[in-house]
Amino acid sequence: MPLPVIGVFDSGLGGLTGFRKLRELLPDHPLVYFGDTARVPYGTKSNDTIVRFAKQDVRFLLSQSASSVFIACGTVSSVALDDLRATFGIPFTGVVEPAAREAFRIASSKEGKVLILGTDATIRSRSYESKLITLDRGLSIRKKACPLFVPLAENLHAGRGDRAAEAAAHSYLDEFVDFRPDVIILGCTHFPLLSDIISDILPDSALISAGEEAAKEVAAAVSKSPSRRRKNASPSCVKEAFFTSGDANTFASDASVYLGRKIEKAEHVHIESFEEDT
Ligand code: DGL
Repeated sequence: MPLPVIGVFDSGLGGLTGFRKLRELLPDHPLVYFGDTARVPYGTKSNDTIVRFAKQDVRFLLSQSASSVFIACGTVSSVALDDLRATFGIPFTGVVEPAAREAFRIASSKEGKVLILGTDATIRSRSYESKLITLDRGLSIRKKACPLFVPLAENLHAGRGDRAAEAAAHSYLDEFVDFRPDVIILGCTHFPLLSDIISDILPDSALISAGEEAAKEVAAAVSKSPSRRRKNASPSCVKEAFFTSGDANTFASDASVYLGRKIEKAEHVHIESFEEDT
């Protein structure tokens, strides 16, 4: 029997930060990734639009035989997780809870100071904040929407020395230098690409990649599942496949940078055709 396929999606390339970790933890598992690069960013859109796009993304992954979905997007995890769970009868893992738990673990052994960075929609939703407050009402929490980080990361303008990325980071983060957060939640999966620049401005803070924390949770669930433990379980013929709503060649070449290895190909998907009842 083949192992069940895990679907992974994001508005674009950012979810590959979670995918990369998941691949490291589950080297043989069949994974299908969809990046909605034609419609990125999600974080500046209305909640209704984010939910509608996320449902199309999930329908596409189901068409690729996914039997569970890793939402490698902070925005969708913040805004659409409940809707997705209510609509589709499969397991979903979002990035908010795993990242908030890790932030709490670190902050509670220090001064309890957490800074949440995310997209406009994520910050507006108060998703990370709400989870942190359930863990400890006494935490000192600050937050900041950093929407410019998304196109910068999507266009691979995110490394140390990139003047546009550094200028954006200073404009968002300088106000937190005196706060000296113990932990910064990179609550958007695109943001780990800017880790070096963020650490240069706030050097004493631990950075949490929401996608990586969630990937650990997905991998832990898989290793406990009966299908994984089955002695005759084997990878399906295709170990991984990458799909995008944008240009497939551009996606394959940019995704190779995110993953730190060359991916052979990506395929284009007309994602709007995965609207309900079509
Ligand atoms: N990578 C996404 C997130 O984690 C989305 C960024 C966007 O599309 O605005 O929030």
